[in-house]
Amino acid sequence: MRIGRLGWKAQLASLLDFAGDAYLNEMGVTSRLFPHENAPNGSAALLAQFDSVADPEDVVDPATGKGDIDLAGDYMRLLAPPPRDPQSPSARSGEFVFEQVGCAACHTPVYQTGPSAIAALDRKPVALYSDLLLHDMGALGDGIAQGAAGPREMKTAPLWGARVSAPYLHDGRAGTVDQAIRAHDGEAAQVRDRYRQLTPTAQRQLLEFVDTL
Ligand code: HEC
Repeated sequence: MRIGRLGWKAQLASLLDFAGDAYLNEMGVTSRLFPHENAPNGSAALLAQFDSVADPEDVVDPATGKGDIDLAGDYMRLLAPPPRDPQSPSARSGEFVFEQVGCAACHTPVYQTGPSAIAALDRKPVALYSDLLLHDMGALGDGIAQGAAGPREMKTAPLWGARVSAPYLHDGRAGTVDQAIRAHDGEAAQVRDRYRQLTPTAQRQLLEFVDTL
């Protein structure tokens, strides 16, 4: 058992897990980690009719010791974060506002990776802007209970790459960062209200800052 860090509900602990889960649930490929098929609408009869390949379908290549899920995990692990835009003076003021109103309480600006045999990942700063923790988001919850996460709990979405990742929030309801902030609720209600009360200039600076991530 390890602490979950990945997924909207922090439901998965590693990229290998994430790959195995997606292979099964998104593509219908069983693997050594997820050996049981999801039957169509739960119907074992339909499954038997159309699924003629023995499980696990993803087999480990004896030459490399890896299956497809391992390769997909490696691929994701070695993707670089999106490069950041240079910061204008106004975006730099926005960074200060971001910390002042309390965004950084959940959107932790930077973490350090642990020791890794891969040089590029070994004790490196990672500016992800997330604490990777679950928060009770009140009305913004997705209504889904998954693992230990309740229906109102969501993992803090990392803000790296936010300038190119619209639409925002788990259901894509927010077309802009401003709308995403205004939809925050629950544990984030106070911070949202502080954002609402900022001067238009301070709001614009904060949005400019997020737009550099
Ligand atoms: C209590 C913790 C908390 C605080 C405080 C908080 N957020 Fe969030 N934020 C979250 C969570 C959790 C999500 C994911 C919510 C969802 O998708 O339902 C999120 C999502 C977002 C998103 C959407 C990202 C995406 O890719 O969909 C943006 C943008 C954002 N927050 C910006 C901010 C800003 C700016 C502030 C400060 C004004 C702030 N947040 C304060 C927890 C927080």
